[in-house]
Amino acid sequence: MTRHAEIIGTGSHLPERVLTNADLENMVETSDEWILSRTGIAQRRIVAEGESTSDLAARAASMAMECAHVTAQDIDMLFLGTASPDHIMPSTACITAAKLGLTCPAVDLSAACSSFVYALHSGTTAIESGRARTVLVIGADALTRFVDFTDRATCVLFGDGAGAVVLRASDTPGVEGIVLGADGTGAEQLIIPAGGAAQPISVDAIEAHDQFLKMSGGDVFKFAVRVIPRATTQVLAQSGYSIDDLRWLVPHQANQRILATVEQRLCMDDSRVYSNVEFTGNTSSASIPMALDDLYTSGRLAPGDLLVLVGFGAGLTWGAAVVRWTMAPQHQEA
Ligand code: ACO
Repeated sequence: MTRHAEIIGTGSHLPERVLTNADLENMVETSDEWILSRTGIAQRRIVAEGESTSDLAARAASMAMECAHVTAQDIDMLFLGTASPDHIMPSTACITAAKLGLTCPAVDLSAACSSFVYALHSGTTAIESGRARTVLVIGADALTRFVDFTDRATCVLFGDGAGAVVLRASDTPGVEGIVLGADGTGAEQLIIPAGGAAQPISVDAIEAHDQFLKMSGGDVFKFAVRVIPRATTQVLAQSGYSIDDLRWLVPHQANQRILATVEQRLCMDDSRVYSNVEFTGNTSSASIPMALDDLYTSGRLAPGDLLVLVGFGAGLTWGAAVVRWTMAPQHQEA
């Protein structure tokens, strides 16, 4: 019998501190009206002093494990997608694992805002191959640590958060199909130039603000509205489905204008395209698993629903997964 991977638990966590558009008006030359009309974002959450990506990841993961009724001993592997690791070394997955009491193999995946779908692919593959039975998949970012709060073109966009799912081996799908892609010729379009081997941190780098995220917003916008519909239709076709079969498209939450354009191109509407970017901003690797947890805990997912989770981001990267939902609504549980 073919071995599949199904989602058996979800969790999410947002840091407490809220940063509103009004707060940003006091920091850079911008306005609530500009931010709302260009991005749909009204507020975002940001990490507190001393709080990091692994803290958010561990909170989301323990909720997902509780939801799945699994303990640390049950987890065979941990895959953590992030673009804002606690450190270059060691991995945030290892630090998160220690916070959760896990001793299983743990590794980071770095594909910017596509990281969660990449991590889901690794988790699914580990289960389908028989190398693991229960896998923790996390998307977590504290990208505001790498945002230049003097650059109005980027600082209004991002927020922090984490989401997680527990995958378990199953006789029925589950995660039915995944497509991933990468085009490194677009690497410069969204980049943190300094802090790695190519440009170590230096006084010059700091003076140029090269330790912060730089983005060619227009290019990334055009890439997003091209790749989301393409990856969505491709992954559905691979699994023998069409857009009509879809209950929810769960896209990476970057910008409401991107989501509106995607809706038009896929002939869908907001009753089937999830959006919470207004309240979270762009939380990078976290946005898709947080969206999933929100849909589930608010009772908007039923067993049998077909979903596509689709991410895009720096790299440039993209990834889309077809998921057949199998979890019963929470309120029906004992
Ligand atoms: N407040 C006020 N004015 C602003 C702001 C701001 N926060 N930011 C830029 N402007 C100004 C610009 O200076 C420009 O002024 P000018 O016309 O006098 O030169 C004007 O507004 C228009 O700027 P544009 O960059 O053309 O604005 P645009 O409508 O393209 O919106 C935005 C910019 C929101 C960044 C858009 O390009 C976008 O959403 N791009 C995609 C970004 C994205 O999704 N990134 C994340 C990818 S996922 C990942 O991997 C992290």
